[in-house]
Amino acid sequence: MSVLIVCPGKDPENWEKALKNQHPGMNVYVYPEDHDKEEVEFALTWNHPRGLFKNYPNLKVIASMGAGVDHILSDDALPEGIQITKVVDDTLTEDMGDFVLSQVMNHIRGLHHYVKAQKEKKWEKFQYKRPQDTKVGIMGLGVLGNEVADKLHKNFFQVYGWSRTEKSCDHVTSFHGKDQLEEFLNNSEILVCLLPLTEETENILNADLFDMLPEGAYVINVARGEHLVEHDLMEMIDNGHLSGASLDVFREEPLPEEHPFWDHEKINITPHIASLTKPESVAGQIAENYDRMKDEEPLKNKVEQEKGY
Ligand code: NAP
Ligand code: GLV
Repeated sequence: MSVLIVCPGKDPENWEKALKNQHPGMNVYVYPEDHDKEEVEFALTWNHPRGLFKNYPNLKVIASMGAGVDHILSDDALPEGIQITKVVDDTLTEDMGDFVLSQVMNHIRGLHHYVKAQKEKKWEKFQYKRPQDTKVGIMGLGVLGNEVADKLHKNFFQVYGWSRTEKSCDHVTSFHGKDQLEEFLNNSEILVCLLPLTEETENILNADLFDMLPEGAYVINVARGEHLVEHDLMEMIDNGHLSGASLDVFREEPLPEEHPFWDHEKINITPHIASLTKPESVAGQIAENYDRMKDEEPLKNKVEQEKGY
């Protein structure tokens, strides 16, 4: 019985170390090193080569190295009956809260103006908004969306949220489903996307949706690049309806050098670092699920594959 780590483009070494620290008896292979496919029952992965897992006749669980599982579910050739898990981790969650708070603060205080002004040696003051006077809408009120809502509320922002099913939370004015999307958007001066990537949410950040935001709204996408119709965003910023965007995720990563986002002065780019999984922080839950699989117990953080998240 073995675990296979598959994460092309990422360093697997820290994952291997962290797993072995948690579970000294665990036999771990790192793809593509030579290994017996029949032995592998559990895979830990990020962006595996499409179709790879169908070659593992005894594979029972595929664990995502992150909170998102779109990189797994988008593979049409997953083995029948496979169980999929995601990461739910306090560090990952808190880091997302900090990142979004920093982007929201950066926007309302207009800090990007001063980066430019300093380069030009200009002593120039800009007006700013206060959190109390700012409405932030969060799309996706799951593990991460809730943390973001909480941090924004604690920092005196007016918080709005949108999810698939109804929620009730004292400090978030909540909306759900397609019917309530427009009202939610009408209130979102800053829009934060923290949805999972599914058939329903792909391309959701498009011109029709931006149109429903207040004039001058700002967009923060920390979910997936495929949520955003890039051309629509550029157009809505260039025609003045949106004031700008902070983008952490992209359709193609790394973002190609020739991409127009790089040079857009109203688009703030970060390289998918809003919240990074720390192997030592999540190895415990992966090892626990490995034992649960062996003991035929229900897995923790299991993904509902029909829902797509
Ligand atoms: P989660 O706990 O599964 O929450 C997902 C939320 O989205 C839920 O509130 C869900 O509604 C809502 N939702 C799903 N489909 C919807 C739809 N069609 N309409 C309205 N709401 C919908 O996910 P999470 O752990 O918070 O993670 C969210 C995403 O963040 C991940 O999938 C990943 O892509 C991204 N992420 C990015 C980074 C980064 O560094 N940039 C790091 C970690 C994660 P219900 O509550 O009603 O089900
Ligand atoms: C990162 O994008 C994650 O899904 O954890």
